[in-house]
Amino acid sequence: MKAVVYERYGPPEVLRLADVDRPRPTGDQVLVEVRAVSVNASDWEGLRGRPAYARLGGLRRPRARILGSDLAGRVEAVGPQVTRFRPGDEVFGDNLALKGGFAQYACAREKALAVKPAGMSFEEAAALPQAGVIALQGIRTKGRVQAGQRVLVNGAGGGAGSFAVQLAALAGAHVTGVDNAGKLDFVRSLGADEVIDYARTDFTRTGERYDLILDLSAHRSAFAYRRALVPGGRYLYVGGSVPTLLQVLFVGPVIGGRAGRKVRMLVVQPNPTDLLTVARLCLDGTIRTVIDRRYPLSEVPEALRHLGEGRAKGKLVVTLD
Ligand SMILES: NC(=O)c1ccc[n+]([C@@H]2O[C@H](COP(=O)([O-])OP(=O)(O)OC[C@H]3O[C@@H](n4cnc5c(N)ncnc54)[C@H](OP(=O)(O)O)[C@@H]3O)[C@@H](O)[C@H]2O)c1
Repeated sequence: MKAVVYERYGPPEVLRLADVDRPRPTGDQVLVEVRAVSVNASDWEGLRGRPAYARLGGLRRPRARILGSDLAGRVEAVGPQVTRFRPGDEVFGDNLALKGGFAQYACAREKALAVKPAGMSFEEAAALPQAGVIALQGIRTKGRVQAGQRVLVNGAGGGAGSFAVQLAALAGAHVTGVDNAGKLDFVRSLGADEVIDYARTDFTRTGERYDLILDLSAHRSAFAYRRALVPGGRYLYVGGSVPTLLQVLFVGPVIGGRAGRKVRMLVVQPNPTDLLTVARLCLDGTIRTVIDRRYPLSEVPEALRHLGEGRAKGKLVVTLD
């Protein structure tokens, strides 16, 4: 089968299209014929080996030779322990644990997959899993956002951010979206009431305070984030620098003070229930999936470069015939 592989961390040039063996599903694995796979910041990080947490799956060299987590396709075969799927089923999910989606076939754990809703295209289904579930768990599940609350989404114009802004606006929150200047009109179009250009303004120093900060690109100190919270407010680290992550993990729990501010990491739990919740919201038109660009499998390096250079608005999707 055709796959986009890499043997060392580096720029998109280290990727190449190759013929490799088709994987075989074992245990609870499902072999999926991939019809569409979306590109996430986690793929970019896994390609570069940066931040350092991207090397958890191989310190010096990547253990998984094929990136690509968010896939949608048709079940080709199942392992002996699989009970929920059979060949021919149309599925989608976040395969972050095994990856391998930038290929004609990929193995995914059964628990990572859901049945793709009939009215949804493979492309749209592939755009949802990681970004949609991060947004849902950040905005809705881990302490529900209330109408009138002030919510700031840092990284609002990217994959997860574009869903998070819409979900927060849907909850009736006053939403501030932070991203680069080129994405701010887009962020407004998603429902943000206010926008901030991260290159010009440090949102932790404006004097504004928020009930929830969902941070998809965290690079400041835990103390700066606490400063930007109202009493009882929550800051959630999703992705960003390792020093910030370590501060959030080790200092975060003790700096909340009597005012009950919480500075924490959001550990996203991919699961079919949340995935289908987001899918239903998209299907009934409550929120929308924004697919910025589509690429063939051979252009995965270009797709990753587009994302890495900060030009993607919403999602990038790779489609396979
Ligand atoms: N916590 C968990 O369990 C978990 C699970 C899965 C994924 N993740 C992480 O989630 C993160 C976000 O994913 P994603 O797919 O939404 O990423 P994405 O599509 O790349 O979006 C990130 C957005 O942040 C913007 N940005 C970059 N630097 C910024 C800054 N200094 N201030 C504000 N915004 C900035 C980017 O804009 P530019 O275009 O200007 O760069 C981009 O629009 C990744 O780091 C990923 O590893 C976490």
